[in-house]
Amino acid sequence: MNFLHLKDHSPEVLQYIVDEAIAFKQGKNAGTPLAGKGVGLCFMNPSLRTQTAFSIAAAQLGAHPVVLNFGGNTWKMESRDGVLMDGDCAEHLKEAVPVLSSYCSILGLRSFPDGKNWEEDKLEPALAAFKKYATVPVVNLESATGHPSQGLADWMTIQESIKPKGKKFVLAWAPHTKALPMAVPNSAVEAAALAKMNITIARPEGYDLPPETMAHLQSLGATVEVTSDTDAAYKNADVIYAKSWGELSSYGTVCPQDSAFRNKWTVDEAKMAKTNDALFMHCLPVRRNLVVADSVIDGPTSKVLQQAENRLHTAKAMLSFLAATRTSSTTPSELSYA
Ligand code: CP
Repeated sequence: MNFLHLKDHSPEVLQYIVDEAIAFKQGKNAGTPLAGKGVGLCFMNPSLRTQTAFSIAAAQLGAHPVVLNFGGNTWKMESRDGVLMDGDCAEHLKEAVPVLSSYCSILGLRSFPDGKNWEEDKLEPALAAFKKYATVPVVNLESATGHPSQGLADWMTIQESIKPKGKKFVLAWAPHTKALPMAVPNSAVEAAALAKMNITIARPEGYDLPPETMAHLQSLGATVEVTSDTDAAYKNADVIYAKSWGELSSYGTVCPQDSAFRNKWTVDEAKMAKTNDALFMHCLPVRRNLVVADSVIDGPTSKVLQQAENRLHTAKAMLSFLAATRTSSTTPSELSYA
């Protein structure tokens, strides 16, 4: 079995993993289900939290983690089929993934979108190659469309902090100097839906999340409101989850950089004052005073460090779950958790 996207697993399995993560955090889970095994953590893009959390999680479960920065401490990898490899990619994933599968019991991949063509990016060619060529379970460490380990850590953080059912979760779009991927906002709203929260997406016109995400929210029975009215969105919110992402209708284009636009969307004290003393959440890394004012991220309801810490516990729960499967083709029904 793989762990590629939240939508691939039932809400019951995902709740089980969150509960296991809480048990790890409370010291109630012990054991080394990955004793003597290798865990290969492959990165096509930078990472602080994901790389460190999964490395430590693997080690604490008894495994030997290996971090591979493709094109850094390894050959640069080609993922497209049928191309003439006369560029800077020296190795194809068709060989690399089976080779890594022969050394490792679990493989992880971080692979961001190129940001030029959404129809191509959303196919996630590198993750698809891992899924196709790996003979061991694969975990998505953030792709073009999802960041499942972040979503589970977000859900865990909310569950630790409030009784989420029926509470107001606001995904608050925020300004940035780059057109960022939609993986984190997708997983954040999916996590909120799994926690049975009422979701409001506050974003500028044109910055809608992909239809596939909205369809998944609908399939989870979530109540979702989409608005560009920040006053209405922040009013009585219980969670403000700030995140920037790029405009789908003008893919790869950076948002306006003028101060009026920034002032409308940056999370600040005046907006937070409209909320129900809301938790402030962000996946990190964050650009201070662009995405969120210092006074909010440093304030009493900020959960960003708790979210980051929970990445370790959810990584342990996810790796333990995958350790129970021997191959990438094991199905949830073959496990006792389903
Ligand atoms: N939130 C998150 O995934 O952080 P990194 O990019 O540092 O791994």
